[in-house]
Amino acid sequence: MRMGVDYYPEHWDRSMWEEDAKLMQETGVSLIRVAEFAWSRLEPTEGNYDFTWLDDAIDTFATHGIHVVIGTPTCTPPNWLVNAYPDVLPQDEKLHPRYPGIRGHRCYNSPSMRHYSALIVERLALHYANNPAVIGWQTDNEFSLNECNCEHCNSRFRMWLQDKYDSIESINAAWGTVVWSGEYSDWSQITTPLGGTNHKNPSYVLDYKRFETDSVVEFQQLQLNILRKHCPNHFVTHNIWSYPMSLDYYKLCENLDFVSLDYYPSTSPEKAESSGYSGALTLDLARGIKRQNFWIMETISGPPGCWMPMWRTPHPGFIRAFAWQSIARGADTLVHFRWRSAPSGAEQFWHGLIDHSNVPGRRFEEYRGLCDEVRKLAPLLEGTEVQGEVAILHSHDQYNAFQIQHQVEGMDYFDNLKTIHRAFTKLGIMTDVLNETDDLSGYKLIVAPSLFLLDPEIASRLETCVKNGATLVLMPRTGVKNQNNVCWTQPLPGPLSNAAGVTVAEYDPIGRDVHNIRWQNKAYSCSQWCDILSPKGAEAVAWYEDDFFAGETAATVHKFGEGKVYYLGTVPEEAFYLDFLRDVADNSGLHFIPDLPEGIQISTRVKGSTRYLFLMNLTRKQQTMLLDGTFRSLLGSREIGPTLTMAPYAVEIVELPQKNV
Ligand code: GLA
Ligand code: ZN
Repeated sequence: MRMGVDYYPEHWDRSMWEEDAKLMQETGVSLIRVAEFAWSRLEPTEGNYDFTWLDDAIDTFATHGIHVVIGTPTCTPPNWLVNAYPDVLPQDEKLHPRYPGIRGHRCYNSPSMRHYSALIVERLALHYANNPAVIGWQTDNEFSLNECNCEHCNSRFRMWLQDKYDSIESINAAWGTVVWSGEYSDWSQITTPLGGTNHKNPSYVLDYKRFETDSVVEFQQLQLNILRKHCPNHFVTHNIWSYPMSLDYYKLCENLDFVSLDYYPSTSPEKAESSGYSGALTLDLARGIKRQNFWIMETISGPPGCWMPMWRTPHPGFIRAFAWQSIARGADTLVHFRWRSAPSGAEQFWHGLIDHSNVPGRRFEEYRGLCDEVRKLAPLLEGTEVQGEVAILHSHDQYNAFQIQHQVEGMDYFDNLKTIHRAFTKLGIMTDVLNETDDLSGYKLIVAPSLFLLDPEIASRLETCVKNGATLVLMPRTGVKNQNNVCWTQPLPGPLSNAAGVTVAEYDPIGRDVHNIRWQNKAYSCSQWCDILSPKGAEAVAWYEDDFFAGETAATVHKFGEGKVYYLGTVPEEAFYLDFLRDVADNSGLHFIPDLPEGIQISTRVKGSTRYLFLMNLTRKQQTMLLDGTFRSLLGSREIGPTLTMAPYAVEIVELPQKNV
C-alpha cells in the first residue's frame, strides 16, 4: 500500500526535478506515474527516439527512493505522425478527420497508429525493462470508444461480423433485418453507423458497440504483448475513467494485472453527499471488474476545471476522507493527480496538490498528513480485502442497449442501479458490483437491475443460485430481449418467468408521472414503469394504488428451491428500497445498521479473521452515530464509542474483534 502522484517531468524545467523529488520523499510519496502524454518528447520526429530526459528524470526520482509507472504515450499521437499518416485520425460520420490537436485523436484500427504505437512501446519496453526504478506500465490513458467511420474501421467491422455470423443469411436472421427492407445481400452493404437517424436497427447498433470495444481491446493487446514479452517482471494496468461507460471494462481489463481507476468525487457542497454515494458505487464497480483490489491512478488534489468552469476547492478534510473511502472499498495504492498544476495547456486549472505558485499550501499539508497515516496503517492493511455480502449485477451491454433505446422518459439504467446501491450503502451493507456473467455462488442476496437482454444461460445460472438458497431481486424490463437485442416472443420476464413465478400481463410506461404502490401497509411513490403482474405461483406483496390498474399486483415473491425471487414491477422511490432491502437483508441473515446517519459510510477490509472497520463522514455536517461498544481508533490511538461524533470529513478506522459493529 503506497502513495504516489502523477508527475510530468516534461512540463518543468529540469532544475525543479531534484526539489520535487526531495519534497516527495519527505512527504512520503514513493511512486510517480509519468510519460503517458509525452510522445512528442520521446520521439520528436519519426524514428528519432530520445529517452535521455526520461532517464534523467527517473534517475533523479529513484535517488529519492521513488518508483515509476510509465504510461505508454499512445493517447497523444504527435503532429509529425498525424501529418505524415492521416489515417491515424478518427473520422466522423461525414468522413472528416476528428480532433487533431488535443488528445485521444487516434483511430484504434488505423494501420499507421497500430504500427507506430507498437514501435514506440517496444522501444520503451526494451529500454526500461531492467531499470530498477520502473515497476510497471499503464497502457495509454483512459480508453473510450471513438465511433470512427474510416475505411479501416469499416472493413474491420465487416470482418468482425463475418467472424461472428459466418454468413449474410445468419446476420439477416439474427438482426431481423426484414423489417423496413433492411436485408443485406452482400457484406459490402454493411458500414459503420455513419450518422443519420438514431432509429437504426438496435441489433446492428449494439453489435457495432461491441465491435468498438473489441477494437480498443485489440489495440491495447498489441501493447500488452510487447510489454509482457520484454518486461516479464513488470505489471501492466490501465487507468479507467468513470461510469456509466459504453466501453466494456470487463473485456478491457481481462488481460491486465489489476484495474486502476481515475476517481474525481464532486467538491460542490450541493453534490458532495450524493457524490460520496455514487463514488462508493464507482469504487465497488472498479473492484468488481477483476474481483480484486485495485489502484487509484488519479484522484482529486485541488479545484478541478477545464472541461467545465472550476468546481469548488476541496473542503478541509475532503482530500483525506475520499482517499480513505477509496482504500476502504479496495484501493491498494493512491496516485494523486497531480503533483503541481500545469502552467500551460488546456488543463491549467485542473489543480494539483501544489498551485502554480509552487508554494505548498493547505491542501498539500492535508495530503502530507494522509501520507503519514497511510504509511502507519499500511502494514495492517496489507493483504486485506473487501468482501461484499450482496451482489449487484452490472453490464455494459445492458447500459448500451438502454442507450440505444431509451425505454421511457426518466428511465436510466445506471441511475436506477445507483439508487439501489445507495440504499445498501445507507444500510451499511457492503456490496460487490459484478459483471452479470460472473459466478455468483456464495451470495445470499443478488440484485439484478433490469436484465433487459437476458441470455438463457445467465437466467439458468441465476435459477441455480436461487435453488441453492439465494434471494434474487428482479426489476422491470427484465427478460425483454435476447443477446442479439431482439425481443423474446414469450411473456415477460422471459427466461426468468418460471423462477419468478410471475408474468407481466400488461405494462404502462408512466415515465415521469408519479404513482403509488402499497407494501406492508405503507404507501411509496413510484415512476418510470408499471408492470401489471399476474402471479403464477408467486405471492403478491405490493399493489398499485392509481390509475386503471389500481389494486393490481406491483411486486411478488416466489419460493423457488431453497431460495426466493422477488419481482418488482415498478421503479419505486428510495425510501421503498431502504425499507424493502432492509427487510430482505434481514430475512437473508445479513447484518445492517438501522440508523446510519446520512452521508456516513462504513466498510470493512478483511484478512482471515482480522477485520478493519472504516467509518467516514463524507459530508460538511457533524454527525453522530452509535457503535456497538468502544474501540481503539487506529488513526488517533484513542478510545471511540459507543457514541461517536464525527466532524465534517472525519475518518475513523478500528479493528473489529468479532462480527458486529
Ligand atoms: C483524466 C485524465 C488526466 C486529466 C484528468 C483531469 O483523468 O486521465 O490526464 O486530464 O482527467 O481532467
Ligand atoms: Zn477508424
